[in-house]
Amino acid sequence: MTQTTFATTIAGKPVKDIHSLVAHHLLVVGQTGSGKTTSTLSLLDQLQRTNYTTIIFDPTGEYSKLPNSVTYKLGENAYLEAGQLSAHQLREALQISGSPLLNDKLSQAVDALRIQQNLVRIRKPYVKIGVPIADYQKQLAKLSNWSRSFAPQQLAEQLIEEFVIPYSDERANYALLGQQYDRQTINHEWNTIATIRQRLASDAFRVLFDPEPHPGIFKTELNFVIKMFLEHRSSHRTLVIDLSKLKQYEESQRVVISLLLKNLLAARLQKPNSFPVNIILDEAHRYLPRDEHQLADNGIFQVLREGRKVGLSMTLTTQSPLDLPARLRSQFANLLLHHLTSPEELSSLAIADEIDLHEISQLSTGEAVLSLANEPQRKINVNLPKWWENNHDRNEENEN
Ligand SMILES: Nc1ncnc2c1ncn2[C@@H]1O[C@H](COP(=O)(O)OP(=O)(O)OP(=O)(O)O)[C@@H](O)[C@H]1O
Ligand SMILES: [Mg+2]
Repeated sequence: MTQTTFATTIAGKPVKDIHSLVAHHLLVVGQTGSGKTTSTLSLLDQLQRTNYTTIIFDPTGEYSKLPNSVTYKLGENAYLEAGQLSAHQLREALQISGSPLLNDKLSQAVDALRIQQNLVRIRKPYVKIGVPIADYQKQLAKLSNWSRSFAPQQLAEQLIEEFVIPYSDERANYALLGQQYDRQTINHEWNTIATIRQRLASDAFRVLFDPEPHPGIFKTELNFVIKMFLEHRSSHRTLVIDLSKLKQYEESQRVVISLLLKNLLAARLQKPNSFPVNIILDEAHRYLPRDEHQLADNGIFQVLREGRKVGLSMTLTTQSPLDLPARLRSQFANLLLHHLTSPEELSSLAIADEIDLHEISQLSTGEAVLSLANEPQRKINVNLPKWWENNHDRNEENEN
């Protein structure tokens, strides 16, 4: 049944203090079909009704029909400026595992393309043969932070231009970037270069980086969208970043989500005195690095660790707490526990001592135990969002 509050306790009392749910980071856990997504939607529904600002990262497109929200869809009305990514992130986004040499060359290729785009203003590879090193360094020095953009589609061609060496006889001129192609190395790296070319030409990556508007649709850069949203209170309090065009590329989604979150955190750290924002990510474990060592560099982790002091809280859902690295799990002071049966899963939670395994294993769909920082646990029935039944009508109304 739909109600005006997010949930009702089993004693029949409405759960009204939703702001304490998002005052800390909230982890929503439970087995498949236990109601995590629905609970998150219901919480969101109530947050919307108190004008609470929320940003949803939507890797699957599930939230595209959400009422009272504004959606930016990568590949439709949004793109990502390739220059926002470091060479390392670019490689991750493209899912290229190149040799250390190729990685070096990749970041040099990005610099060369940035020179082409911002100083020379042509969309062609930078031919390095015969160019004095001093000239190149002057150009590099001229590139400042605002001129990060480059044409990623040229990357494979530019990489070839990076493999240049001096002549190996008395004609060698070491003041030049190079005099001839290092054909042997190019051939050695050819496979990876071809993969990069192929990835960049694929539909998914064309939409990711393509700033060209399509007829009738204006495209906005995603970092810019988020920055505007954070700086200006608008009538829309819910922003959906739809990354579903990259559905087949979970690693790329991970890189994009991490990058956007890092920039979001940086923007907030620069201008801290602002309204609180809740960030929602469903199935969050998919977008975290598998390797704990990479955690510190991940945007989700950074927001979990540093976001609260600048008014950013996260709501993450995952099937099992064990899917999350331990260092990340410990960042959640609030928990919404749906049906779970494994003692290992529950014991991995910080509040393990206080959890009644039997109770959690008996929960049915839509039931949960709510555990908030400094409050006694409550068993609750989550109500469906208010718009659930007439989703369609509300949506059309919203678009007008
Ligand atoms: N509070 C609720 N009241 C009524 N029905 C619910 C409630 N919560 C969930 N359901 C129903 O249960 C089903 C599964 O819910 P939901 O998709 O939210 O689960 P989930 O935990 O997110 O699953 P998954 O892990 O597969 O994503 C849905 O059909 C949904 O309509
Ligand atoms: Mg779900």
